[in-house]
Amino acid sequence: MTKQLEANEFVVLTDSKGREFMVRLQPGGRFHTHHGYVDHDALIGTYEGSTARSSRGHTLLVFRPTLSQIIMNMPRRAQVIYPKDIGTILVWADVFAGATVVEIGTGYGALAMALIRAVGENGRLISYEVREDFFQAAQETVKRYLGPCPQWTIRLQDALDGIHEQGVDRVLIDVPEPWQFLTVIQEALRPGGIVLCFTANALQVKSLHDGFESNGRFVLPQTIETLLRPWHVKGLSVRPAHRMTAHTGFITTARRAFDG
Ligand SMILES: C[S@@+](CC[C@H](N)C(=O)[O-])C[C@H]1O[C@@H](n2cnc3c(N)ncnc32)[C@H](O)[C@@H]1O
Repeated sequence: MTKQLEANEFVVLTDSKGREFMVRLQPGGRFHTHHGYVDHDALIGTYEGSTARSSRGHTLLVFRPTLSQIIMNMPRRAQVIYPKDIGTILVWADVFAGATVVEIGTGYGALAMALIRAVGENGRLISYEVREDFFQAAQETVKRYLGPCPQWTIRLQDALDGIHEQGVDRVLIDVPEPWQFLTVIQEALRPGGIVLCFTANALQVKSLHDGFESNGRFVLPQTIETLLRPWHVKGLSVRPAHRMTAHTGFITTARRAFDG
């Protein structure tokens, strides 16, 4: 559905060099670049895909942000999972509409936003975050970019003290020592459910696999990583970009076995 851009909405302005600027539209507001300024009032009431002209005559494309653009442009003081990994996580954890998902370690809420959208209005996401500042920040992030999300609950709690939920379809863990949580989540995750852990280095992967083995209730452990290589396509120059993000983290999954 084509909908006019409204006050308080976020837009991404892209200049002729592909640089992106995420802006919240405010009546009377003004966006400044070194190519001049654009009045927000000139954008409010227009449509996505329009062009705006700066005071110095430069053209900017105007779109509502994708989730990936929100994550890469949002203010944050903690590490977030990058969109390239979030895409893989959603499929490898097999997060589906209507699922009940537990997240351990919410940080600024980048992965939480993707999970909220993936489980949809009939699903549930329950996030556990131990730090009060991140607990607050994640709530502000989700409200700011997604608005009210009744399918989401965030608990200010150390997940090692226990998971309240039972019969959970998926558990996603982004903390430094995920193997410590296997005893806690074995009660919450239903047989056939999937646990997915995001870890930064190979020694953590080893400890996690050892943890699955000694716990005995998790089977089919698997570790992958996502390498995303952008391409430069301009005229006859069609080749991989010179730079890419070489390493972010490892994605490890396992299935909860049926006891006995
Ligand atoms: C790397 S951040 C998570 C980032 C998040 N996945 C994202 O995409 O924005 C890890 C978070 O785990 C939280 N954490 C660490 N141990 C925890 C525990 N035992 N229970 C709950 N949260 C924990 C930390 O406070 C931190 O906010």
